[in-house]
Amino acid sequence: MRSQEWFGRTGKDGFIYRAWMKNQGFPHHEFEGKPVIGICNTWSELTPCNAHFRELAEAVKRGVWEAGGFPLEFPVMSLGECQIKPTAMLFRNLASMDVEESIRGNSIDGVILLCGCDKTTPSLVMGACSVDIPTMVVSGGPMLAGRFQGRKIGTSDLWRFAEDFKMGRMTQAEFTAAEAAMARSQGHCAVMGTASTMAAMVESLGLALPDNATIPAADSRRKVLAHMTGVRAVELVREGITPSKILTRQAFENAIMVNAALGGSTNFILHLIAIAGRIGVDLSLDDFDALSDKIPLLANLQPSGEHFVEDLFYAGGLPAIIRELLPHLNGNTLTVNGKTLADNCAEAQNYDPAVIASLDKPFKPESGIAVLRGNLCPDGAVLKPSAATPALMQHTGRAVVFENIDDYKARIDDPDLDVDADCVLVLKNVGPRGYPGMPEVGNMTLPAKVLAQGVHDMVRISDGRMSGTGFGTVVLHVSPESAVGGNLAFVQNGDLITLDVPNRSLHLHVSDEELAGRLVHFKPLDLGYDRGYVNLFIRHVTQAHEGVDFDFLKGGSGSVVKRDSH
Ligand code: FES
Repeated sequence: MRSQEWFGRTGKDGFIYRAWMKNQGFPHHEFEGKPVIGICNTWSELTPCNAHFRELAEAVKRGVWEAGGFPLEFPVMSLGECQIKPTAMLFRNLASMDVEESIRGNSIDGVILLCGCDKTTPSLVMGACSVDIPTMVVSGGPMLAGRFQGRKIGTSDLWRFAEDFKMGRMTQAEFTAAEAAMARSQGHCAVMGTASTMAAMVESLGLALPDNATIPAADSRRKVLAHMTGVRAVELVREGITPSKILTRQAFENAIMVNAALGGSTNFILHLIAIAGRIGVDLSLDDFDALSDKIPLLANLQPSGEHFVEDLFYAGGLPAIIRELLPHLNGNTLTVNGKTLADNCAEAQNYDPAVIASLDKPFKPESGIAVLRGNLCPDGAVLKPSAATPALMQHTGRAVVFENIDDYKARIDDPDLDVDADCVLVLKNVGPRGYPGMPEVGNMTLPAKVLAQGVHDMVRISDGRMSGTGFGTVVLHVSPESAVGGNLAFVQNGDLITLDVPNRSLHLHVSDEELAGRLVHFKPLDLGYDRGYVNLFIRHVTQAHEGVDFDFLKGGSGSVVKRDSH
């Protein structure tokens, strides 16, 4: 085993590797050939969605000890979506590097990734894939739905509350009371936002045990799942099952189709492409559209529907969704428990058709991700049809342009802003480089004067992202982004734009000659980062359709430490 490269050595080297570990009270026999299971923990009080992970790690350890392994927990960079500035996505790749090198550089045979809040899952999975030792994921689980004024609430209500507060339909006292009611238990966001999308992704890819995606964080069965993951990780090492044996092209296809049926976050696209890049599977933006095209929306979950992720667990969990989808899926893909995806859902039942619909009678016919092309986005842009307004799916409107997020904030509520409900709001310079990290500002709040007319949705276009909890007719991830000279940079107030989702098109009604003329005046943004991590980020980050990973992180370096100082 890999760990014996450290603990199995004799002489001075073995002494060094073991002696300092013994200061934690481990007896000598623990170092004599037991599988060492690293527990990669993103616990942090600054990542509240992961703040219960010390307890979860203890449950994992119990399982590892029980199975005859030797658990060793280690921390890595943790990213709290709601806390870290300017945006957690800026640090996803940095965290993945931390994970990759922490795994490779240490004496572990297998690793269990404790993931929760949005970016902690992709960063840990990306890092682990680049090392490719036996890996399992335990997600932290969703929060219990909040309760406010007699009804259930979750993160998607934040957008509604903000609108109501802005329009005077909600008092400050009510707003503050809602704030306390929203996140009333441990866990990540209670809706099918990015965190639960990621938890479902790892389960459908085969990297986690069944039910990982939906057991609430506060439910004792979450600890049982953690315990059983510890047990299984020891066996996984003995069987030599690494991520590259699980993460086949077919597994990625399954994840895309399951995500479509769930109405998962658009962030899923960026993260899955980045993970595929690390493990060496070719995946393009068009795969998302082609594979989700035949999948209807089965899950009635916010933000595309009305229920919460805990309700999905009570209704049968992800195995019930997967079982319903099996006619479309590759059921023979291997998962970490040694069984196939189809085996894992063979006994699954749908206990609540109001939460899990059937293929025959889906919750909504449209699902997944629509990939748009056109002169505004030659390398693609995305839209989530299930969260959009049907009447706006084919729409032509006059552009109202904001040059950057500060310009948007300064003018959006200006009574003199020349805008109406038929206009198309265009926000530039919030792409991977233009606003390093590509913030979740794509579902920009509508102008106050439009909201006052009772309008709740308009077509919005940007090179940024949208929170997985957000909704609306929002075109995101425009590629190439405006900061690198994509045509989005040349849109001017008054230009006509046509969004045509059924025909997968996004067109700027400006001639090529006119666009070429505007290009002459294009000046690259002075981003003003001349040192440090952000400087590295803007020099190496790839575009949205490539996963926003660093160009030098694609692929993996394996688990062998090339130079050994002892
Ligand atoms: Fe952590 Fe939503 S803020 S999952």
